[in-house]
Amino acid sequence: MIKDFINLADFSGDQLRGMLDQAAADKRLFQSGKLQPALDRRVLAMIFEKPSLRTRVSFETAMTQLGGHAIYLTNADIGLGQRESVKDTARTLGGMCDAIMARTFSHEFVVELARYADVPVINGLTDYSHPCQAMADMMTVEELVGGLEGKKLAFVGDGNNVARSLALACAKLGVKFALACPEGYQLEESFVAELPAGACSVGTDPAAAVADADVIYTDTWVSMGQEDQKAERVKIFSAMQINAELLAAAPKGVKVLHCLPAYRGYEITDEVFELHAESIFQQAQNRLHFQRALLGLLIGQGGIQ
Ligand code: CP
Ligand code: NVA
Repeated sequence: MIKDFINLADFSGDQLRGMLDQAAADKRLFQSGKLQPALDRRVLAMIFEKPSLRTRVSFETAMTQLGGHAIYLTNADIGLGQRESVKDTARTLGGMCDAIMARTFSHEFVVELARYADVPVINGLTDYSHPCQAMADMMTVEELVGGLEGKKLAFVGDGNNVARSLALACAKLGVKFALACPEGYQLEESFVAELPAGACSVGTDPAAAVADADVIYTDTWVSMGQEDQKAERVKIFSAMQINAELLAAAPKGVKVLHCLPAYRGYEITDEVFELHAESIFQQAQNRLHFQRALLGLLIGQGGIQ
């Protein structure tokens, strides 16, 4: 049993497949009004060192829908690692709550929370990774293109936390992953080398990456915490925009996804965003469906088998 959900590298392809199947089944039950409130009076502590719309609302909504409760804690409230050590925070929350979700700058903070809390710890985004996003995205790709095995996802933009988790999810679920990203911003060679041969290609040419893609994906060029690099990054990434010209280099019917928040006129044009808005907001909604199933597995079933 795996207690925590921190890094997709910790899970086998079969385990990820099982989580997606559970999420799809729960989504159908929820939509027909038949999902049982399996987490009656259970409590999720949510730690946010960074802002959030989707992650906060989806976790909080999921807990309410399952009959439990979620507590929103910002760093101004608890001062993770400053007012109090991560280790003591973990043991305090672990003694009162049934699970902890944390969005932090340092990935090590989430790992440390998991080490010292007896309850499940979920990574709600760190500078290193965003596994809940990637799994909700796999759910969305499956719904949009009718399967995962043998499909291709082209990520155009920064080799960041979202790209890293997507590369892992794709590799483990049989989706080819192609990253188009400026030199110096790509995923680490050591990380790519750990993925199965042929699972991930890295280049600098967006048109080449999207040429045979089923899905094109992008994220901001300036992640939370990088605001002081904005001017420099906007220049460096200017050739990585998802626009009508790039879509013309992709197969007809290609899907476009964005984890949001989106910065129109930078990583994606308003025109392309609005053309694909239905898929993008289906993707946002699947954060709720995936995470509700994840909470059911971690809190209700005791972990991932
Ligand atoms: N995609 C995502 O994690 O959105 P938030 O930052 O709003 O939670
Ligand atoms: N890469 C972005 C994702 C936001 C959901 C960030 O870390 O800010």
